Amino acid sequence: MIQLFRVSKAFGASTALEDINLRIRKGDFVFITGPSGAGKTTLLRLVFGSEQPTTGQILINGINLNKISSTKLDLLRRKIGFVFQDFKLLARKTVFQNAAIALEVTGEKRLVIRKKTHQMLRAVGLETREQSFPLQLSGGEQQRVAIARAMINDPLILLADEPTGNLDPEITREIMILFRSINLKGTTVVIATHNRELLRNTEQRIIVLNKGRIVQQ
Ligand SMILES: Nc1ncnc2c1ncn2[C@@H]1O[C@H](COP(=O)(O)OP(=O)(O)OP(=O)(O)O)[C@@H](O)[C@H]1O
Ligand SMILES: [Mg+2]
Repeated sequence: MIQLFRVSKAFGASTALEDINLRIRKGDFVFITGPSGAGKTTLLRLVFGSEQPTTGQILINGINLNKISSTKLDLLRRKIGFVFQDFKLLARKTVFQNAAIALEVTGEKRLVIRKKTHQMLRAVGLETREQSFPLQLSGGEQQRVAIARAMINDPLILLADEPTGNLDPEITREIMILFRSINLKGTTVVIATHNRELLRNTEQRIIVLNKGRIVQQ
């Protein structure tokens, strides 16, 4: 489902990823970890198609991202949820509107959008903040809006970049349960994190990056 063949990514003279070979199957639940600057975010961006590899091939569901038209890439991206490390919420839209965006573009019926959005915001504990704007929220609350937005579509793939970085342990547990439940419904989940608590006692696969290389997978 997600395949990387000899993928490298350089930014000018600095190499963010080097010779990455990786295969993540449909329905897998995997963690990507490694020190700051190891290349976790870059790897997720490459899979999302928002960065192009310098060399190598990336296949999503058998589709080669190097060869796909930008229209097709847009369509593919709609099936991928991304929880950005810096949230990327729209400041002029409410919590509700931010969370609903991925449904709006599908042309789903208004009533369905409303119901699903309420449901998703309740699941992340933000039912009382629907009409707030992002800047009126704490960092953890903003992060939960980003999580709701990424999951609302039941995406094929959920890419989450340090999704619990701003959350307390109790909410972190609840969010992890949400990730597990969407995974059980068929979504492939890839979580980049430093959080040792998340990685301790997990039975899930852990991919370790260091200085742009996979050192364990
Ligand atoms: N747009 C960019 N331009 C130049 N260098 C970049 C860019 N994006 C990433 N890098 C470099 O690539 C390397 C990997 O960065 P990346 O953000 O993928 O690391 P990370 O593992 O996500 O780190 P963190 O845990 O701090 O989020 C770093 O050395 C970074 O400086
Ligand atoms: Mg990062």
